[in-house]
Amino acid sequence: MTDWEIALIIPIPPGSKEERTKAVILAGGKGTRLRPLTCGMPKPIVPVLNRPLLEHILLNLVKIGVKEVVLTVSHMPDAIRDKMGDGSQYGIRLYYVHEETALGTSGAIKNAERFLDGPFFVFNGDILTTINLDDMAKRHLEVRPKVTIALTPVENPIMYGIVETDEHGMVQRFVEKPTWDKVTTNLINAGIYILETDVLKYIPPGTPSMFENYVFPKLLEVGEPFLGYPADGYWIDIGTPEKYLKVNLDLLEQRGKSIFTEGESRIDPAAEIEPPVLIGSGCDIAAGAKIKGPAVLGPGCTIAENANIENSVLWEGVRICTGSSIKKCVIGERSYVQEDCRLEDCILGAYVVVGKGTTEWEAKIPPKTFVSPRT
Ligand code: GTP
Repeated sequence: MTDWEIALIIPIPPGSKEERTKAVILAGGKGTRLRPLTCGMPKPIVPVLNRPLLEHILLNLVKIGVKEVVLTVSHMPDAIRDKMGDGSQYGIRLYYVHEETALGTSGAIKNAERFLDGPFFVFNGDILTTINLDDMAKRHLEVRPKVTIALTPVENPIMYGIVETDEHGMVQRFVEKPTWDKVTTNLINAGIYILETDVLKYIPPGTPSMFENYVFPKLLEVGEPFLGYPADGYWIDIGTPEKYLKVNLDLLEQRGKSIFTEGESRIDPAAEIEPPVLIGSGCDIAAGAKIKGPAVLGPGCTIAENANIENSVLWEGVRICTGSSIKKCVIGERSYVQEDCRLEDCILGAYVVVGKGTTEWEAKIPPKTFVSPRT
C-alpha cells in the first residue's frame, strides 16, 4: 500500500444489499483536448458551475446509494486529492489509487483491484449525465451479465465508437469511428459501466490497456455475457473546450431563469444582468456592465464599467476592464482582459493578459499563446 491509499476497505459479502455501494472513477487522463484549460488544472476538477467536475459526478453517485468511491489518478494527482479530500463533505469515502505511469482505462481498474468486490460502477471522470443509474443497476442485477454498458444516442456516431446489440440487448460488436455506410445504430459507449469482479481476470496487471480496444473485444470473443443499457437523458463528455462551455451553459439553463449568487458580491444597481447568471462570491460588477446569460462568473471576478459578458464562463479572479466585450468564451483563472477588447469564441488559459484593444481576430492566435508562464 502506498500513502495514496487512504484506508482499508471492509469487504462486502457478494449478494448483500450493499452491492451497489462502490464505484471507480477514471480520473487519470491528461485532458490534452481541453488545453489550455487543463494546462494548470487536471480535467476532473475543472470548475463546472463553480464546483469541481468530480463533485457533480460524486453527487450523482451518492443519490443512488454509492458509499465508497475509488478515484484512479495519474496526471496531477495532488491537485485532485487536495480539492476532493477524503469525501466526507459528500458523505462518502474516497480512496485514491495512483498510477506512476498511466495504465489506460482498464489497466487503471486492474490496479485498483484490491479495493473492489461485488459488482461496481465504473465512470469516466469527464461525463455529466442524467442517465438513470439506479435503473441501470437494477437491470444489471436482473440479468447478471459480466458487464453492463450504458449506451447513449448521438447525432453524429461517425465521430465515436458505436455499440451493436441483439434483440435481447446483449452487446454483439464495437465499431470504432464507422463510416456512414457502416452505421447500424446511433448508440455509443457512454463511459459508464457496471462490472462483475471476474472481469478483472481479463485485464493484464501493470500494463496499459483500454476497455474499448482490448477488454471488451476479449469478453465478446470468449462469449461472456455483456449487456447494453440504452439510456435516455442528458449526456455529455467534457472532452473539448466547446463541450466544456456547452455543459456549463446547459446546466445553468436547467437550473432556471434566475440570478444565482454564492456569498457576498458587489453588484452595482446600474449593472444589467439578464438571467440565468451564476455569480461566485466576492465579485465586483460595476455600473453599466452587462451580463447576458447563460453566463458563469467564478469567485472574485471583476467586471468594469460598460464591459459586456455574454454566454461565457469566467474562472476565479478574472478581470474584464472597461468597454471590453466577451462572447462565447472561456477565460481561465486570474486572466486579465484590458480595456476595449472584443473576444468571441476564445478559450484563454490561466494568467493570460490580453492587451488593450485586442480584437476577435487577433485573439484567435494559437491557444499556446494564452498559456501562463506559470503552467
Ligand atoms: P484527452 O487527452 O483529451 O484525450 O483526454 P483524457 O486523457 O482524459 O482521455 P479520455 O477523454 O479518452 O479519457 C476518458 C476518461 O478516462 C477520463 O475520465 C480520463 O481521466 C480517464 N483516463 C484516460 N486514461 C487514463 C489512464 O491512463 N488512467 C486513469 N486512471 N484514467 C484514465
